Formats: sequence, structure tokens, C-alpha cells
Amino acid sequence: MYQTKIAGLGKFVPENIVTNDDLSKMMDTNDEWIIERTGIRERRHIKKGDGNTTASMGVKAAKIALERSGISKDDIDLIVFATLSPDYYFPGCGVQVQEMLEIDTCPALDVRNQCSGFIYAISVADQFIKTGMYKNVLVIGSENHSGGLDFSTRGRSVSVIFGDGAGAAVLTRSDHNGQGILSTHLHSEGKHALELSLKGPSTNYWVPEIIADNPQGDDIPYYPYMNGQFVFKNAIQRFSEVINEGLKENGLEVSDMDMLIPHQANLRISQFVQQKFKLSDDQVYNNIQKYGNTTAASIPIALTEAWEEGKIKDEDVVVLAAFGSGFTWGSAIIKW
Ligand code: UT7
Repeated sequence: MYQTKIAGLGKFVPENIVTNDDLSKMMDTNDEWIIERTGIRERRHIKKGDGNTTASMGVKAAKIALERSGISKDDIDLIVFATLSPDYYFPGCGVQVQEMLEIDTCPALDVRNQCSGFIYAISVADQFIKTGMYKNVLVIGSENHSGGLDFSTRGRSVSVIFGDGAGAAVLTRSDHNGQGILSTHLHSEGKHALELSLKGPSTNYWVPEIIADNPQGDDIPYYPYMNGQFVFKNAIQRFSEVINEGLKENGLEVSDMDMLIPHQANLRISQFVQQKFKLSDDQVYNNIQKYGNTTAASIPIALTEAWEEGKIKDEDVVVLAAFGSGFTWGSAIIKW
């Protein structure tokens, strides 16, 4: 069996900063509520006409990751793209990235696991590399949330949280045994699928039916629905479980964890996990204050920034953990 390491990381966020005060001009909300309940101060939104889409932001992040990895785009054996906000219903963003990067005919697949998307995606990549089937895999998490949120007061409990952006990682076969991804741990619980969901339009609920069901336009299924407190309670439980599972699998103690990069769902969730594991501020990386929750992009953006800021060093044990819609959750234990 081979082992997988991260050879390069990159991120891209749109220039357009949207503050809490900006949102309060569109809906009944305020800076104090958003900071107190979520920790978010601002987020980035694509601006109409700036050329950014989920796929194109992914490409921008991928180009940086490729350059840092020293691996040519022509040596990429597989593209794995995680998103809940693809440019098209089909095909997926993976093939768009392939075309934009001018990569010939390597396979490209999309992962639909929302906030856990990046962990699922690197786990998929890891399996292909471990078995020797592929050597270099480009993994991307990217989201254009602002294109599909309800910015009226009706949607405020969801729309203040989410932001746009992309992160990417080039994964490759590790030369040193014991360096790289030690293990990944994936879970889901479909009975809670609709607690955080966007129901339509879908093949099961198409446009004419939606219009017929909602003559007043007051119950709109094409905006995300989230049972916030229920999601919150499940998140803190599952985050803790899946971090412990990963540590145990590798014979590691909490004290061996040099850096925890949690999915940036809500600063209060990260702080709860930090307190539960008694971690110092230096052991947990958060940037939700600047970007909001960018779903599949949040972990690769945070990982890239932590690395750029010199907070991840060789030999460090880095733990990634995520929870989100599905419900899905997962962790990855990495020896840097
Ligand atoms: O990334 C995927 C996973 N997602 C998560 O992990 C998110 C988990 N959930 C959460 O982060 C939190 O539940 C939220 C941030 C979404 C909401 O915070 P909360 O503390 O659970 O607030 P709440 O939904 O219980 O709402 C409390 C009050 C309500 O008013 P009343 O009924 O008490 O009068 C809401 O209407 O806050 C009101 N409210 C707002 N007020 C100002 C809801 N959204 C807003 C808003 N601005 N944006």
C-alpha cells in the first residue's frame, strides 16, 4: 500500500467583502446578533459580472495548489470536486475544471457531501493513491452560496452564515512511510436529510409543481432550509466523536494533536470542540470571522491559510473534521 501526502494547497475568495452591516440593509438583522451567534464579521460574495463561478473559483485555487506542489497539470490522474452549489445541474464542476485547466482526458468526479465534501473528497483521492491506481489527484472544494440565498428577512437565519470561495489541494504518493494522510473516517445519517436541505427544483419537485404549491410564493423550496439548533446539537456531538475515532485509530492522544482545522460552520461550534478537547488557541484554526461558512471550501481555505501563516510545520499531526447536511461527517488525520 502507498501513502498519500498533500503536495500543494491553494485558495481563492472573491474580492467583494460583505459586512454584517451590509446585510442589515437588506434584511432585519444586525452586527451584534451575527457576531454573538456565529462569530462571523464579514464574508465574500461573488459580484455579478466579476467572472467568478463555483468552477472558475475552483480553478483559481487549483492553479495555486498546482504551482506550489511542483506537479504539472498534465500529470494529474484524477480530479475530485466537492460542492453543493455547482454551476450546472449537470454535468458536474469536475469536468469544467478539466476543460479550464486544459487537462486532456483524466477522470473527473463530483462529490455531493456538502460541509463534509472536502473530507469525503480527500478520502476518495486517498483510496486511489493508496492502491497505486493513481499517483496525483487534484481535490477542490468550492461554493457559490450567494447566488442562491434568500436575502430577505425570511431567510436571515441561513443567509447571514454562508459565503463564497474555493480551496484546493494536490494529493500525491508520499515518498516517506508515515508521512501524509494516516487515515480518514466517514459517516452519514440519512434520516436527518431534510434538516439541512434544499428540496427543489428537482426531478421529484419540478418548477410547475412548486409554483402550484406556493401561489403566494411564501414557502419557497429553492432556498436552503436549516433546523439550526438541531444541526448545532448534532454537529458538536459528531465533531467530537469523529475526532476521537481518528485519534484512536492511530494510537494518538489529544495531546498529540498539533492543529485542528474544523469545518467553519459556526465559531461557537469550534469553540465548544476546543473546550471539550482542552485545546489552546494555537491548536485550533478558525477564519469563519472573515469568510463565513463556505461549506466544502471551508476546510481547504482554512488549511491553506494556516499553512501560509506558518502554523503547520513538518511532522505536525493535523486533524481535519467536518459535519453538515446529510447528515454527513468525517475526519482526516494527517502527519505533515
Ligand atoms: O455548515 C453546516 C452545518 N451548519 C451548522 O452547523 C449551523 C448550526 N446552527 C447554527 O449555527 C445556529 O443554530 C444559527 C446561527 C443558525 C442560529 O443561531 P441560534 O442561536 O440557534 O438562533 P435561533 O435560530 O434559535 O434564533 C434565535 C432568534 C429567533 O428569534 P426569536 O424567535 O427568539 O424571537 C430568530 O428569529 O434569533 C432570530 N434570528 C435572527 N435575528 C437577527 C435568526 N436569525 C437572525 C438574524 N438576525 N440573522
